[in-house]
Amino acid sequence: MASAPVRGHSVVYAPRIQDLLARGEKVFRIDATTVGVSDCHLIAEIVAERPVSAMERSVYKPAAGADIPHDSATRTIRALGQDVMEGIRTPPPPTRGLSGSWPYAPTSYLRRWLFSSDPLPVSLLSKRGVTRSDTLSRIVDRAVTVWPGSDTEGGTALAEQIRDASGTQERRQAIALYRRATATLCDGVAALAGNALWLMGQEREQEAARADLTAVLWETLRLLPPAWMLFRKGGDAYTGLHPEIRPEDRVALFPLLMHRHPDYWPDPLEFRPERWAGVADPEKTPAFMPFGFEGARCWAKHLVVPLAERLLTVAFDNRLVIRSPQQEAPVPLRSLLSVRFDAEAGA
Ligand code: HEM
Repeated sequence: MASAPVRGHSVVYAPRIQDLLARGEKVFRIDATTVGVSDCHLIAEIVAERPVSAMERSVYKPAAGADIPHDSATRTIRALGQDVMEGIRTPPPPTRGLSGSWPYAPTSYLRRWLFSSDPLPVSLLSKRGVTRSDTLSRIVDRAVTVWPGSDTEGGTALAEQIRDASGTQERRQAIALYRRATATLCDGVAALAGNALWLMGQEREQEAARADLTAVLWETLRLLPPAWMLFRKGGDAYTGLHPEIRPEDRVALFPLLMHRHPDYWPDPLEFRPERWAGVADPEKTPAFMPFGFEGARCWAKHLVVPLAERLLTVAFDNRLVIRSPQQEAPVPLRSLLSVRFDAEAGA
C-alpha cells in the first residue's frame, strides 16, 4: 500500500507514513503509549464513546486562558461561512499568486482572496509571515485588541466578531478564533486542492476529467485526506472497546488507512472519481470519514469542498501547470497530509 501509482503519477510518503501504510492489522501498537486504529467500527465506537475534550479540540481549544463558550463557537462558524460564500462569489486575486510552491502558494492566495478586505491590523492575523512567528503573532494580537477597527471600515464577518466583542476577554478569544479559523480553512483547502491536482495527473489537461470536480475532490478526500490522523487522549475511556488499548494509552485514528482497506473499497489504490458519481451523501459511505464521524463531525465541512472546487476552477481557467517533480512527489510527515510540488499559472 506504500507507494500509490496513480495515473502515471506517484507519491513518496515520509518513512513513518510508509510504515503505517504497510501495516496489515486494523488495531496495532505504535509505541509504548500509542495504539493505532484503522478499523471502521472501532473508530466509530471510539469517536462516539465521549465528546472531544477541550484540549483535544483544534479551532475551539481554550484561548485567553478559558474554554470557548458554545455561542462564540457557533457565531464564529456562521461568520466563516458568510466569508467563504462571499469569497466564492468575488473575483479571485491575480492568479500569478498560485505560482510557486504548493500548498504554500494557494494558502497565501486564499488568505488574500477571502480576508484581505479587513483593515489593518486585523488583516495581519491571517498573513502567513505573521502566523509562522509566535512573537509577531503576539504583537499583532495586542495591536488588534487595542485597534479592532470600526464598523465604517467594512471587512469580513469574522473581523466583525472581534469588533463586536463585549470585553477584553471576549475580544482576545475572538482574535484567537479569527487566527485559527482562517488558518485551518486556508491550510486545509490548499492541501486538498493540491492533493487533487496531483492525483488527477496528466488528465487534468483534459476538459472531461474536470467535468465533475466534486467527485474528484471526494476521491481525493478518500485517497489523500488532509486530516489523515486524529488523536484521542486518555485510553481509560476506551479500554472496554479493545484489549490492546490500555488506560495510559492515547489512540491514533487513521482515516488514511481506513480509506484504502480492500475490505471496504474495490481497487482501493486506484484514483477513481467515478466511484462518487451519483452518490448523494458521500459521508454516509461506510469506512469513509474525511471530516470525522458522528459525535465530532467537522463544523466547516460544507465550506471546504465548494471552496476547493472554486480554487481548482480558477487554477484550470488560468492554465496552471505542475513544473516539478515530474514523477514522484513527496508527502512529508505533517499534521495535514499534502503533496509538495512547484506549479506555474498562466503557462
Ligand atoms: C480541509 C479542511 C478541514 C478538514 C479536512 C477538516 C477535518 C475534520 C475532521 C477529520 C474532524 C474530526 C476530528 C476528530 O474527530 O478528532 C473535524 C472536526 C472539526 N472541525 Fe474540521 N476540518 C477542516 C476545516 C475546518 C475549519 C475551517 C473549521 C472551523 C473554523 C473546522 C472546525 C471543526 C470543528 C469545530 C470540529 C469538531 C471538533 C471540535 O469540536 O473541535 N474544521 N474536522
